[in-house]
Formats: sequence, structure tokens, C-alpha cells
Amino acid sequence: MHTTASSSMALSLYLHLLLVLSLAVAEATVFTLQNNCRKTIWPGIQAGSGKELLRNGGLRLKPGEVVSIRAPVGWSGRFWGRRGCSFDKTGKGTCVTGDCGGQLHCSGAGGAPPVTLAEFTLDSPMDFYDVSLVDGYNVAMSVLATGGTGMCRPAKCVSDLNRSCPRSLQVTKDKQVVACKSACMAFNTPEYCCTGAYANPNTCKPTNYSKIFKKACPSAYSYAYDDASSILTCKGANYLIKFC
Ligand SMILES: *[C@@H]1O[C@H](CO)[C@@H](O)[C@H](O)[C@H]1NC(C)=O
Ligand SMILES: *[C@@H]1O[C@H](CO)[C@@H](O)[C@H](O)[C@H]1NC(C)=O
Repeated sequence: MHTTASSSMALSLYLHLLLVLSLAVAEATVFTLQNNCRKTIWPGIQAGSGKELLRNGGLRLKPGEVVSIRAPVGWSGRFWGRRGCSFDKTGKGTCVTGDCGGQLHCSGAGGAPPVTLAEFTLDSPMDFYDVSLVDGYNVAMSVLATGGTGMCRPAKCVSDLNRSCPRSLQVTKDKQVVACKSACMAFNTPEYCCTGAYANPNTCKPTNYSKIFKKACPSAYSYAYDDASSILTCKGANYLIKFC
């Protein structure tokens, strides 16, 4: 009798645990990072304030490699790609673009601009996401929502902005364009940075520079007050983030 009672209690505990686990699994969001570039990419991940740091903020992704990362409900943060990195065994080193303070694991630090960003705010109550060129461009990125409901359109900047980058915004290494600065970073004026008298969407309009970004990447966020069409929504999805 005693045995039966305790085993049925164990069974109900077990079922309860299964339920809790399946709920957790159903609600968490899976980010799948895929490196389509011909060279290794070192993705960086920065969590929003108070949110869980995923993968200690950074990892290495060889060409063709795919990695899945589970984010808790309500997570927010951004992904970017670091290029041309070399790290020693302790994880110290540098990257040509997107460096986060000379470490493989960014541990909360962001990437040095110019960097292409994939930004997410999950479960609020929908997921909001975009690919942003507000901090410039250093690698082609795309975000594809899978299995969600709603609009769930792809966010991407897959055109080679290195090539259309105006000379005054170019970042070069060994005479090659390796990244494209935002006009804000290059000129640091209120008009380009949407600060001061330009700190609102009525006064901060697209500029000749942001228009070049918008033309190359229509679904990406091209400056601080770019129209809301660049912020996409979906619910209950997982996300594939492709580099190149
Ligand atoms: C941009 O520049 C980098 C570094 O030269 C290069 O590897 C890459 O292929 C270029 N194009 C894109 C789309 O990032
Ligand atoms: C953008 O406009 C500024 C100010 O009018 C001008 O100095 C600059 O050359 C223009 N740049 C491009 C790439 O059109």
C-alpha cells in the first residue's frame, strides 16, 4: 500500500515535471546560427539589460558550421559577426571587425562598430526583430523566422555593402574595404546621429548616406529613426541567423 502510494506520487511528480519541461521547451526560442561565409566568423552575442548571457557572449563558427542556442522566454539582445579574429588558448586576441574588447567570449560587451546587427526582443508579447545598419556594416546577415505565426518576414542585409560604401565611410585593411561606417560614426553630427535638435523622428530624416544603406538593404534598419517597416514581428518562432 505504502509502495503504491509513493510510486503513484512519484508518477504524478514525474508527469508534472514532464509538463513543466514541455512548457519550457515550447516557450523557449531557439536561435540557429549558420556561417555561410567562406571564412570563419566569430559571432558575438550581447544580452539586453538583465537578460541571460548566451554562450558567454561569443563563439567561433567555421565555414558551413551551424549552432543552435536556446534563449529563455522574454530574452532580448543582439547578434553580430566578428571577422578576421585570432585568439590564443585563453581566448584573448583581436578581430579586424566587430571586436568586443579582445576576447573570444564577449561576456556582456558589444562589438566595436561598424557592425551589422541582428536585434531581438522576444515575447513582448510578440517577438520584434530587425537587421540593423545603424552601427554600420561588416558582414551580410539575414534572419529567417521559422514555425511562428504572424507576419514573420525575413530581415536581411545580404547585398555587399562593402562595394557600395562611399569612400568617406569605408574602413580598409590592406587596401581592401572590410566594413562600412554609419554616417553618424564617420561625421558625428546631430543630423546623422539623430541627437540634439534631431533627436526625434520628425526632424531626423533619411540622409544621402542612410539612403545608400536603404537602397542596398531595403529590409534593414538604416538609421536611428528609420521607418517602422524595418522592425518585424512574429510570435512563437525560432530564428535562423545566417552570416553571408
Ligand atoms: C566585405 O569585406 C570583407 C573583408 O575584405 C570580405 O571578406 C567580404 O567578402 C566582403 N563582402 C561582404 C558581403 O561582407
Ligand atoms: C552627402 O551630403 C553631404 C552634405 O550635403 C555632402 O557633403 C556629401 O558629399 C554627400 N555624400 C554622398 C555620398 O552623396
